[in-house]
Amino acid sequence: MDTAKKIMVSGIKPSGDLTLGSYIGAIKNWIALADEYDCYYFMADLHAITVRQNPADLRRRTTNQLAQYVACGLDPEKNTLFIQSHVPAHAEMGWVLNCYAMFGELSRMTQFKDKSAKNADNINGGLFTYPALMAGDILLYNADYVPVGEDQKQHCELTRDIANRFNGIYGDVFKVPEPYIAKVGARIMSLADPTSKMSKSEDEDKGRILITDKPEDIMRTFKRAITDSDTGAGCVHYDPENKPGVSNLMTIYSCATGKTFAEIEKEFASAGYGVFKPAVGEAVVEMLRPIREKSEDLMKNKDYLNKLMADGAEKASRVANRTLKKVYKKIGFVLPNGK
Ligand code: TYM
Repeated sequence: MDTAKKIMVSGIKPSGDLTLGSYIGAIKNWIALADEYDCYYFMADLHAITVRQNPADLRRRTTNQLAQYVACGLDPEKNTLFIQSHVPAHAEMGWVLNCYAMFGELSRMTQFKDKSAKNADNINGGLFTYPALMAGDILLYNADYVPVGEDQKQHCELTRDIANRFNGIYGDVFKVPEPYIAKVGARIMSLADPTSKMSKSEDEDKGRILITDKPEDIMRTFKRAITDSDTGAGCVHYDPENKPGVSNLMTIYSCATGKTFAEIEKEFASAGYGVFKPAVGEAVVEMLRPIREKSEDLMKNKDYLNKLMADGAEKASRVANRTLKKVYKKIGFVLPNGK
């Protein structure tokens, strides 16, 4: 390991297929940083079961997600890619940190409140203590930065509070990490309702793009995207408050093409939404096409994927077990054989 490099850690729950939101908000930044940092990226399957999952779907999505990480451009030689449940230190550290996370602070988590409202028949303990597990994911690897979308900022801040609390009791055990949130694209909204976040759990439909969607489906969804009634020249204008639908499309177009908002406004100065919406669709199709093709190819090569997950888990475990052992010693656990 190159110890001079700063460390990045992040994960995605395989609770649904990867969306354009996760791609732009998280993965795209991971790739941009892969050469500069020592990176650990995982499929957060332990987190996924806080909401009921169909076992066969969870298995399929977890492996798919690994193939998609690679297809998106994460080189497994340079990055440590693994499945969270393959590294038992996550569950172990999660338990320890549960004992250093306060009921009051866990109760304040927006995601807990949202998810409890949506899953009123299954408000389980895991849904509540989830941020302590996430803190463990991050602190196990001595992360400097956690590249995530805007919705995970609160969990990252709680991770810092937990790390500081622990360090306050036992000395400098954990590195205190910072969230790393992109300036553009940290919150991609639903195409059917630009006031709510694009999410995997959104019913299969008009508001959500999956990175595996076929070009014709992507185009159809963009053509139907909700904008506003102001359709004349100059309607392609960035104003998230008054024009959330258009601003969201501009954000997506900017992330797909690298153009600034000013450049996009100029490009479509005399165009209506009938021109702009398909243009965004086409840019997304082209951005996702190589990823879809490569991940379909990789999915055919199960031996390769199995080797990848075994190597990733081994590499991750080495670092994670070292941190866990340090923590166990600090809190007073007797280590096996006294070592
Ligand atoms: P998850 O699986 O909900 O989302 C994965 C990542 O994608 C980002 N994201 C978005 N960004 C922009 N616009 C959107 N519409 C959008 N939807 C999702 C999320 O912010 C996230 O970065 N708790 C985490 C998974 C996790 C984790 C971790 C992350 C578990 N342990 C440790 C970092 C470090 C989650 O549920 O993300």
